Amino acid sequence: HQPWPGLIQAYRNRLPVCDTWEPGWEPVTLREGATPLLPARALSELTGCEVYLKVEGLNPTGSFKDRGMTMAVTEAKATGKKGVLCASTGNTSASAAAYAAIAGLECAVLVPAGKIAMGKLAQAVMYGARIIEVDGNFDDCLELARKTTATFDTISLVNSVNPVRIEGQKTAAFEIVDALGKAPDVHALPVGNAGNITAYWRGYREYHADGIIGSLPRMLGVQAAGAAPLVNGAPVKDPETIATAIRIGSPASWNQAVAAKDESNGEFRAATDEKLLEAYRLVAKTEGVFVEPASAASVAGLLAASADGWIEKGSTVVCTVTGNGLKDPDTALSSLPEIARVGIDPVAVAAAMGLTE
Ligand code: F0G
Repeated sequence: HQPWPGLIQAYRNRLPVCDTWEPGWEPVTLREGATPLLPARALSELTGCEVYLKVEGLNPTGSFKDRGMTMAVTEAKATGKKGVLCASTGNTSASAAAYAAIAGLECAVLVPAGKIAMGKLAQAVMYGARIIEVDGNFDDCLELARKTTATFDTISLVNSVNPVRIEGQKTAAFEIVDALGKAPDVHALPVGNAGNITAYWRGYREYHADGIIGSLPRMLGVQAAGAAPLVNGAPVKDPETIATAIRIGSPASWNQAVAAKDESNGEFRAATDEKLLEAYRLVAKTEGVFVEPASAASVAGLLAASADGWIEKGSTVVCTVTGNGLKDPDTALSSLPEIARVGIDPVAVAAAMGLTE
């Protein structure tokens, strides 16, 4: 029995590795991928569908970004770069920082000042990245990262505009098919910069082209209502949402996301912050999966789309939950219920539980 080698080794024949890389290159890996596809009982009961959660918060740095980052940092190292740079709402920065740390590369992260969740900042600090706050939003950070890396060619841009990021992330679709033995009818996921929906669609299409699956899922891309450029059909100048991970007004992979929606007969939807928070609490409380607020967009989309009939009962649905809830303790604790305080008294404990009978 071989231990899981990380996704570059596991899917090597489907990834563009090695063509122009230095001989003797090695994968920079934290053994990312192979995340659970969890049957979601409560959500299935609620919707009349067969619902699964692809739990990407169980990747090494707690989000799906690790799939792309193993590729991007491996490439940076194998092509002689000295450092990596990204713009980020938090998860990309945590992931870039970790992979750069093990690769021995410099890492800087450009983040919107005051708008990233505390856990993600803590990760970037611990992995040793240089954190640079920008007076602006994610879109401004990305523009700055692009300009910097266009000017200084020892620095590699590791955002999802880097094509190898998408290649790594498409492996999540492979894993879903490998686990289900087919493609789902609908695949729901949160959409921010639109790299991930691009990646999943590519993965499904590749398996379809090779005859591994006979049908393709409809892609349901869910944005936060205050940051829903793809739903509105126009960029949003000042995006705002509690789901800071997807607080993005001008997605870089706009055209590819629209292609994924159109080619799959899919849909973009917006969820209000209220609906995102409802789904966020529901998935923790009923499925035992603590995700970050942005990740709950897929579940909010599922609930809305099954309620209005866009998703038919009996459908097989996969919701990607993209990031771990521990990354954003502030949002979790903002709705803190009353906390009981007791002495060293078993009766008081049982009473606090409502179970004194
Ligand atoms: N969910 C989470 C938890 C994210 O962190 C992101 C993106 C998305 C969904 C959306 O994915 O951008 O490929 O459409 N986070 C980026 C970051 C922007 O900087 O960490 P997308």
